[in-house]
Parts: sequence; C-alpha cells; structure tokens
Amino acid sequence: MERTFIMLKPDAVQRGLAGEMIVRFEKKGFKLVGMKLIQVDRTLAEEHYAEHRGKGFFEPTVAYIMSSPVVALVWEGKNVVALARELMGATNPANANPGSIRGMYAMDISRNVIHGSDSVTSAEREIALYFKPEELVDYRKASDEWLSE
Ligand code: CDP
Ligand code: MG
Repeated sequence: MERTFIMLKPDAVQRGLAGEMIVRFEKKGFKLVGMKLIQVDRTLAEEHYAEHRGKGFFEPTVAYIMSSPVVALVWEGKNVVALARELMGATNPANANPGSIRGMYAMDISRNVIHGSDSVTSAEREIALYFKPEELVDYRKASDEWLSE
C-alpha cells in the first residue's frame, strides 16, 4: 500500500493546530503508520530540502523547520501521495483552496503549516530520512474493509 511523509511544521505545533490537522487525514480514511514529535537539526533540514539548495528561499525555509518542534507522520492509503497534496492545498496559502489545510490555517508561503511528499519516490526518500523501518507499524484496522473494495 502507498505511503506518504507528512510534517506538521513548527507554526502548526506552536499555534495548537496539530490535532485538527491530523483529524483531516484520519477522517479521509488514511491509516497512521508512523508518528513522532521531533526537533529537526540543520543536517536533517538541509537534507529534507536538498532539491531547493541554491534558491532564495532555501536558507529561510531550513531555518523555519528548525525553529521549533515538528510532528513527523507517515500515512498509508490508496493514492495517498497525491490525495494528501490535495488535502494540503497549494504551496502558497494565498492560492490554496479555502477548504484545504493551507487554505484554512495559513495565509503566507513562509509559514504554510504543513509539508507533504510530492511523489512516491520523494515519499520513500523522506520516510527513510525521518523514520527507522522499525518505527513504522503494520496493523489492521476494523475500518479497512469499509474504505475500499
Ligand atoms: O512544500 P511544497 O512541496 O508545496 O513546496 P516546495 O516548492 O517544495 O517548497 C518547499 C517549501 O519551501 C514550501 O512549503 C515553503 O515552506 C517554502 N517556500 C517558500 O518559503 N517560498 C517560496 N517561494 C517557495 C517555497
Ligand atoms: Mg516540495
């Protein structure tokens, strides 16, 4: 089953939005298979955003995700990578659908409250950056059979 990496960024934790944001993924039907509250260090932050190295927003964005603890999550489900991006909304909250997470909880691109992998390949890379294999839990939920045929 497909998995994606989601991070509730420092502003989400500081503003007390973590629970409300997790609920959105739970109610969609995705299965939580990994979760931890962590302080990201510079090495990890730069590795996370390696594809953006050299861009003007690289350093501020690295500083942003290191600025306070984040919640790291792994969700599992059918087409979860693309569907989670839809739930999150556009990178710039000013352009995000008002019903999306960024549309509901943010207004500026520099504090856009959430990260989500942009492809299955990125998801595999990011999950491995944040979680050891034994930190991901495989389990059955009674609701599994009610979520797809
Ligand atoms: O997070 P997402 O994949 O939607 O966007 P990205 O293009 O991969 O950019 C990564 C992160 O850098 C964004 O989520 C923002 O936090 C930040 N960023 C920014 O502050 N200003 C920009 N012009 C572009 C990105
Ligand atoms: Mg990205």
